[in-house]
Amino acid sequence: MASAVYNPIGTTALITGASSGLGVGYAHELAQRGADLVLVARRQARLEALAVELAEKYGTVSTVIPLDLTTTDAVTELVSDLRERAVTVGTLVNNAGFATFGTVLDSDEAREREQIALNVHALTALTHALLPDLVETASLHPHTAALVNLASTAAFQPVPRMAVYGATKAYVLSYTEALSYETRASGLKVTAICPGPADTEFFEVAQTRSDKKGTPLTVDEVMRASFAALDRSVTPAVVLVGTRNALLARAAGIFPRRAVLGAVGRLNVPRRAR
Ligand SMILES: NC(=O)c1ccc[n+]([C@@H]2O[C@H](COP(=O)([O-])OP(=O)(O)OC[C@H]3O[C@@H](n4cnc5c(N)ncnc54)[C@H](OP(=O)(O)O)[C@@H]3O)[C@@H](O)[C@H]2O)c1
Repeated sequence: MASAVYNPIGTTALITGASSGLGVGYAHELAQRGADLVLVARRQARLEALAVELAEKYGTVSTVIPLDLTTTDAVTELVSDLRERAVTVGTLVNNAGFATFGTVLDSDEAREREQIALNVHALTALTHALLPDLVETASLHPHTAALVNLASTAAFQPVPRMAVYGATKAYVLSYTEALSYETRASGLKVTAICPGPADTEFFEVAQTRSDKKGTPLTVDEVMRASFAALDRSVTPAVVLVGTRNALLARAAGIFPRRAVLGAVGRLNVPRRAR
């Protein structure tokens, strides 16, 4: 860690979706680097168990905030809770997110709205509310502040049978790249992390399987790529995780849109329907 350029020691990092998968990975890595944490998700018991583990392992001070980020006032409540506790956030990891699997025709419209509320609205509102804190932290203490938004390789092309998910992640990618440009002089590290399928609860929640797309990434692989990017003096706005995933995502920008759409559409057909 001696060569680390991102050093959040003594600052506070807020992680959404810290109760499982990649969120737990970010919590461990940020705790190890000396940040205090704010852990947000719905499953309170999991967040509390993680807070105890991090305190024992790294001496981390964690604040647990159980919250459903899809509700209308969730972000407003979260931000006023932070203000009451006098917490200034130096790093924000917008990680909470989920996917649905199936055709638009068969989808549950309420669940699709929840997906947009979490993957897009909560991420945007929280970024907007905390950006002044992030930028101020970056200017007062260089190399301590970051905005990490979880996009996906699904952001690089339309995804039949995950149409809403692909669209939400395309939004996250575009929004984060634009924001990284706007804040480039501030010292804030802004990055969209784009993993391919990873071994978390994600596919269980989406009620599909990841095995048709090859070996999933481990949480450690996603963390290594994320923090290698943050440790660069100029953090890239887009981080594709995994060589194969990077090639496929880049290819999606080169081949005709129609051909890419057909290839992804065929890949996403459930086994029983092939
Ligand atoms: N795993 C993959 O293959 C993959 C690939 C590319 C990108 N991603 C992205 O990576 C991020 C993390 O996903 P993961 O793979 O770690 O999946 P995961 O294990 O299912 O974790 C998702 C997290 O989001 C939280 N969450 C879900 N709904 C929420 C809500 N309404 N309010 C607050 N928190 C909520 C969950 O906590 P609670 O259920 O306790 O609320 C959980 O902590 C997501 O944005 C996902 O789109 C994942």
